[in-house]
Amino acid sequence: MTTPPEISILFVCLGNICRSPTAAGIMRSLVAQSARPIRVESAGVGPWHVGKPPDGRAVAAAQRHGVDLTTERAQMIAASDYRTYDLILAMDRSVLAHVLQRAPADATARIGLFRQVAEDIEADVEDPYTGPEDDFDTCFAEIETAAKALHARLLETGPEGSDG
Ligand code: 4NP
Repeated sequence: MTTPPEISILFVCLGNICRSPTAAGIMRSLVAQSARPIRVESAGVGPWHVGKPPDGRAVAAAQRHGVDLTTERAQMIAASDYRTYDLILAMDRSVLAHVLQRAPADATARIGLFRQVAEDIEADVEDPYTGPEDDFDTCFAEIETAAKALHARLLETGPEGSDG
């Protein structure tokens, strides 16, 4: 039996300390439970938190669901990412616009809105950063649902398999 080629995914949000590290952490835990090799990283479009761990509220919400985010470190999306990754998935439409705007001419990644590609829902994962603590649980649940849908799709069809 041949091993299927690795799929690589970059999740992108604004600060890379709340939504996209949560998506990366959840996806890694799903990948760990299946045989398909999928590489998962996250990045932000803003520079403010580069090198920092995720927001403590995001870490705590993930911890409540058995997902560890403590090893994530914020980084900004780089030009080379557009060729390195198969999929670049933005957490909201504003981030998607930034990601598309910065795409180099030789970009090969499929770029899309996370929930659109995962679940065919043209909806944002709302930014929880300035909201109350509860928003982090809502955010986690939304991302978990989308990540499970995306993971199932990738196992079925690979990175090109869904519209969006
Ligand atoms: P994230 O949330 O994009 O989900 O990581 C944010 C984190 C920090 C900021 C904005 C959004 N900020 O403005 O510093």
